[in-house]
Amino acid sequence: MILEGKKVLIMGIRNKWSIAWGAAQSAYENGAQVIFTHSEFENEEKINSLISQIPGSKSFPCDAGNDESIRKCLENVKAEYGKVDGILHSIAHANTDDLRNDFILTSREGYAHACDISAYSLVAVARIAKEIDMLNEGASIVAFTYYGAEKAIEGYNVMGVAKAALESSIRYMAVNLGKDKIRVNGISAGPIKTLSAKGIKDFNSILDIVEERAPLHENVTTRQVGDATSFLFSDLSSAITGEIIHVDNGFSIVGV
Ligand SMILES: NC(=O)c1ccc[n+]([C@@H]2O[C@H](COP(=O)([O-])OP(=O)(O)OC[C@H]3O[C@@H](n4cnc5c(N)ncnc54)[C@H](O)[C@@H]3O)[C@@H](O)[C@H]2O)c1
Repeated sequence: MILEGKKVLIMGIRNKWSIAWGAAQSAYENGAQVIFTHSEFENEEKINSLISQIPGSKSFPCDAGNDESIRKCLENVKAEYGKVDGILHSIAHANTDDLRNDFILTSREGYAHACDISAYSLVAVARIAKEIDMLNEGASIVAFTYYGAEKAIEGYNVMGVAKAALESSIRYMAVNLGKDKIRVNGISAGPIKTLSAKGIKDFNSILDIVEERAPLHENVTTRQVGDATSFLFSDLSSAITGEIIHVDNGFSIVGV
């Protein structure tokens, strides 16, 4: 029970296919009290029905693109549950057109939107969480990223740019927050069929290529990504910060 006595906030639950759900199940089974946030655009009834499988949990609405909404959400979480030991950022969004067309056609607005929701929101969440004093000493912040931050992957487009900003933000945040013994890390997950992934052109062929070329010849599951998240939430990873860990069955280490 590596998370016994810890409270973790999972931001970005949508449905049972969400990687956030794999992370929540792992955190709960490893002893954590789990709290959720969901986008104000999601169906609250469906989310409540899903998370009822995790005793004592509750989900709070949060628009990652609005600082006031983030503040209100985190204040509500703190009022009901007190300080937390971990926050997972499992949130991303880009305009569909920007994932369908060539990257070079991305509009100024579409570029800003993807970076705002998928990268800046992590900075805002951490800053506001600190401002309202909701992080216990030794707290661990984790965000999900993807290989498209490092390499140009057709169809990932502006989301790759946003993930590169997210990964760089993780390093800068780790430096700032290290003074308070708060760690910040990223998990670069292999491709998983989720609702968000459906927006990416030819996603099925990405899954096929990973299965063929990854050293472990499989695609990853939400639970495997969740277990790595639990490790990063736990004291077993107390000396790891500012790091991006690939949970991708080794796909990213292969050359040709
Ligand atoms: N599925 C993959 O292949 C894959 C691979 C690597 C990383 N990731 C990352 O994992 C994370 C979770 O994605 P997922 O694949 O589980 O899909 P998902 O659709 O289940 O989760 C994405 C979440 O982002 C939330 N969101 C979008 N806009 C928001 C906003 N304005 N405010 C608050 N929440 C908002 C959605 O409501 C949803 O809960 C994302 O950061 C994604 O980029 C996914």
